[in-house]
Amino acid sequence: MSTPKFPVTWSSRFRSILTLASLVCTVWLPIAQGRAGLPPVPYDPHSNVIEDSTRVKHVSLRLEVDFKRQTIRGEARLRFQTNWGHHDVLPLILDAKGLKILDVEVYPGTPDAARIQWKDGPEDPILGRRVEIPIPLSSLPLPEANTGHVLIRYETAPGAGALQWLSPARTAGGKQPFLFTQSEAIQARTWMPIQDSPRVRVTYDATVLVPPGLKAVMAADSLPRTAPDVFQFRMDQPVPAYLIALAVGDLAFQPLGARTGVWAEPSMLAQAAHEFADTEEMIQATEKQFGPYRWGRYDLLVLPPSFPFGGMENPKLTFATPTILAGDRSLVALVAHELAHSWSGNLVTNATWNDFWLNEGFTVYLERRIVEAVYGVDRRKMEDVLGIGELRADLARLDPRDQKLQLDLNGRDPDDGMTQVAYEKGALFLIELERVFGRDRFDPFLRDYFDAHAFQSITTDQFAAYLQRHLLDPNPTLAGQIDVKAWLQQPGLTIKFTEPSSARLIAVDQAARAWSAGQTSAQDLKTADWTTQEWLQFLRKLPEPLDVAKMTELDDAFHLTAKPNAEIAGQWLLMAARNQYHPANPRIESFLSTVGRRKFILPIYRALMRTPGGAQQARGIYRQARPFYHPIAIESVDKMLGAP
Ligand code: BES
Ligand code: ZN
Repeated sequence: MSTPKFPVTWSSRFRSILTLASLVCTVWLPIAQGRAGLPPVPYDPHSNVIEDSTRVKHVSLRLEVDFKRQTIRGEARLRFQTNWGHHDVLPLILDAKGLKILDVEVYPGTPDAARIQWKDGPEDPILGRRVEIPIPLSSLPLPEANTGHVLIRYETAPGAGALQWLSPARTAGGKQPFLFTQSEAIQARTWMPIQDSPRVRVTYDATVLVPPGLKAVMAADSLPRTAPDVFQFRMDQPVPAYLIALAVGDLAFQPLGARTGVWAEPSMLAQAAHEFADTEEMIQATEKQFGPYRWGRYDLLVLPPSFPFGGMENPKLTFATPTILAGDRSLVALVAHELAHSWSGNLVTNATWNDFWLNEGFTVYLERRIVEAVYGVDRRKMEDVLGIGELRADLARLDPRDQKLQLDLNGRDPDDGMTQVAYEKGALFLIELERVFGRDRFDPFLRDYFDAHAFQSITTDQFAAYLQRHLLDPNPTLAGQIDVKAWLQQPGLTIKFTEPSSARLIAVDQAARAWSAGQTSAQDLKTADWTTQEWLQFLRKLPEPLDVAKMTELDDAFHLTAKPNAEIAGQWLLMAARNQYHPANPRIESFLSTVGRRKFILPIYRALMRTPGGAQQARGIYRQARPFYHPIAIESVDKMLGAP
């Protein structure tokens, strides 16, 4: 294909030395350090990069967004640092998935620029492939500094997992196409060649070329535009690859405060700005408790409804589903959550996806503290109770090995670890620590934890060691009340903890019981001042099955089928599917065809699949809706219904 300027002898002897070296690093070193009493240095089972010898430090991207061909043509210039001093060629190892690598250049941008032959490993359906670039050590401009550059030209594949390409009809405005990326957990490698492991951090800059009339935004600082359709970005804080993000569309911006604002399609902007008006207050509440916000700006981007998640904590620019625009700010705990990741996750990152609870459990804990500070303790308690309800529902269907905080996802898709165990059981552990040690000890502990590990990636074992040293050891009498090992390694909820409780939701439970038992009619229930959280609790507490007469009574009294609030609608339509309440069928169809958020659509499809009639309905809806869903959602629904 290309003739390397430096003949590279990729001899089998060299290869076996390399294999041996990587074995020493990845197998022996962790064991040795583990024996020395230090938490072992992990290798990441979800990256093809297992060696530690050469690390990418900075990425310069030039991306051409081609809506017609649904590809990104990219150039990635990688600056790496190495401690590989022993041979005349060092291997730079990267992750790639589906990417078509066109060519690789060493000495990029110099008169000596030369193409070099890379080596592609086999493509794994989950992990993608390992790309080895043999870098001649002589090509490092300053060999003693141990840093060098390569330039990789590439193109993304049509079905790239990180990318969703939307035709104009799938957007709010209906006139312009839209593209957004979703890199977590291991999709960054589908849109750039990179070391796609959360324990590797890079800074980056990017130049993005888009068709006329569109705007590009990234989870980075925006630089002044050099031409109308050329957007420039810079990220000076080192981030893991899963936090690199891009969106392109007909976007407009409205400031919320001095350092906050919202991006959305023009027709959604005013509604979004109204919904997110409390964002600055949330940042201040978090800073007060857990230390400074270190990312400069905090903006939100409202995506089209096919976004498969509720939110994604892309640094400086949270990506959010429009299904939280309820009009009454009742669903903004999601903003608190994504904002909280600016501390837990983005600042202190899980070293591997087995440690996912360090990202999400801490974040749910902070989210609840923010909700408490901004919206009061009643609302916070309601969220706690709803959360543990969701945890119990997940535990009921999960294999015991996935009920532990410390996961073993080796050989599996890290998506399998995305359960309420990481989120709600993780948060419960921290709530329990807070209860035992008190906020006056626990808050400073957490604050110091974020400071001590800022811009680092850590494992569960490293957290446990830090906890021992900085909270348990200094407070030996209290420490006796906490069994850390059980929290981290026992499945289920068998550990002692304080059950969350909310007076308002206890009243709702009573209402649900009284109505189900026929002691009160729906009309007579006192629902006038119920919040979204109370409605959710009420619906979740109703017995199952519920006959059509009871479903009809509720619907007649409260018009649940027509509720615009996506959380309430999602819960009600799930019940409608389970109880075969057919008057809701048109709404089920429109909901499943306009909302692509996995958390809502998967349970409804699953419920429909339980009866032959429902299965037929589900297949019919999915046939129409599938092209509208994100690759991640398609993968999950395909698994359930069978690919078309
Ligand atoms: N980081 C997650 C989303 C995620 C996790 C994407 C794993 C891909 C892989 C995000 O912070 C999140 O947790 N979102 C939740 C909302 C939150 C309020 C619990 C969601 O999308 O439902
Ligand atoms: Zn999260």
